[in-house]
Amino acid sequence: MTRKVTKAIFPVAGLGTRFLPATKSIPKEIMTLVDRPLIQYAIDEARAAGIKEFIFVTSRGKGALEDYFDNSPVLEQELKRKGKDKLLDVLENTNMESGAIAYIRQHKALGLGHAVWCARRLLDPNEPFAVILPDDVIAADKPCLQQMVEAYEELGGGSMVAAMEVPADKVSAYGVLDVEEDLGHSVVARGMVEKPAPGTEPSNLAVIGRYILSPDVMQNLNQMKQGAGGEVQLTDAIADEITAGRKVYGHRFSGQRFDCGSKAGFLQATISFGLSRDDLRDELQEYLDELSAVRAAAQ
Ligand code: G1P
Repeated sequence: MTRKVTKAIFPVAGLGTRFLPATKSIPKEIMTLVDRPLIQYAIDEARAAGIKEFIFVTSRGKGALEDYFDNSPVLEQELKRKGKDKLLDVLENTNMESGAIAYIRQHKALGLGHAVWCARRLLDPNEPFAVILPDDVIAADKPCLQQMVEAYEELGGGSMVAAMEVPADKVSAYGVLDVEEDLGHSVVARGMVEKPAPGTEPSNLAVIGRYILSPDVMQNLNQMKQGAGGEVQLTDAIADEITAGRKVYGHRFSGQRFDCGSKAGFLQATISFGLSRDDLRDELQEYLDELSAVRAAAQ
């Protein structure tokens, strides 16, 4: 039996320079898709997968993230006084049980692998853990990490990354899997490479920001090997597992992934989530139809 995955690491130390000037004063993870911050989607997905402890790897200037998950007594009292029960329910989701959330600082931006390693003392040396990159937002009937936990338990452990086929001209922006065996939804990896040079990609199966990792990956990170871009790469520490003879799987999840680390991806996610909301769908759709009509007329 595999040990249950109950802890997740959220690397949120990045400067978010692609979203300047907004990120000059707000953490990227607080930026909203419709009315919920990016980080809320990640937390909800983790909860659905059975995660009980949430570890944030932060950096200077991320205070708004800590406040977001704190109780807000003045606001709550005011809403209670006005009888705004629906809004109180909305806030309920953002409250965390005391002690369920921990913040660790990454003091130097040395890479994703280093960020994950910063959380090492909060994990039991024998327990597998999840990593969620909040930039990757995945809309799915069954949340992506939950799909992975189920597949991971079925396969009997090892390490697992979310995987998705991407167009040939985009592959080199990702961690990429070299596939040994295709099991259908899951694949067994023979290797993994971070941001391969164009033309050298082992496949077009890219790693997306959801991971279930064996504690050995944390050990591998102790070596602080410098990889692509001179950074300590999580991909390399996972690939070391394969070299050591332990299993690494890619899991082709069902759902739609939005790259909210890019402006275009963020806008697409905003429209898609807006269209999925009963209170916004009609008005938004009408506007989109109008836009396409104007565009068609101009052509
Ligand atoms: C990170 C990982 C990469 C992965 C990607 C998914 O890269 O290093 O392996 O494919 O997230 O979004 P980044 O996007 O931070 O460059």
